[in-house]
Amino acid sequence: MQGKFITLEGGEGCGKSTNIKFIEQLLLTEGFSVVLTREPGGTILAENIRQLLLDKEQEKISEQTELLMMFAARAQHIKHVIQPALDQGSWVLCDRFTDSSYAYQGYGRNMDRSAIQWLESFSQNKLRPDLTLLLDAPVDLGMARVQKRGQLDRFECEKMEFFNKVRTGFLEIAKQQPERVKVVDAAQELPAVQESITQLIQNFIHG
Ligand code: TYD
Repeated sequence: MQGKFITLEGGEGCGKSTNIKFIEQLLLTEGFSVVLTREPGGTILAENIRQLLLDKEQEKISEQTELLMMFAARAQHIKHVIQPALDQGSWVLCDRFTDSSYAYQGYGRNMDRSAIQWLESFSQNKLRPDLTLLLDAPVDLGMARVQKRGQLDRFECEKMEFFNKVRTGFLEIAKQQPERVKVVDAAQELPAVQESITQLIQNFIHG
């Protein structure tokens, strides 16, 4: 039996790292075999691409190059990690996926949506997440958390206006695909966030 594909999305500093481990535990408790992975990344090659994407010291990356690098990493990740795991019946839990490309490159950088749609079909065939949890919080809250962590990567150095467009983008996607994308209010205290996540995961598993 095929496993399920769950993705976690959200802006900077929304609490993805903490909550993805929480979700992994929920799934393990339910008895599923779980593969926890992330984008951009998840294979040696894709992690190398990630480093290039996050490094702010090198030559300026054009918007087109950025989008293609995201999908180059993704194609490799799907072929070598995600699809084989799903085929073996494991559940794949991924920190970011293609919704991030629509939100960051599409809404954030104003890249043509139809180009992203084409790349999505080209690199994923029919693969789409079965469930996506969107951790949503006001941009200033997330950025305050990110700044406390120290060193900022190439994306984290963007202006507030960029992050506001990204947030709008994610919320728009959730509005368009409410069956798949569930919004969690990540501005709540952590126990409340995790309570919401537990509800959504339980509904997804048990209906
Ligand atoms: P991530 O490791 O999730 O960063 P953080 O934990 O700081 O939120 O993701 C790295 C960056 O890559 C993040 O700023 C968003 C960006 N990104 C895109 O712009 N497009 C994409 O398709 C993906 C997967 C990520």
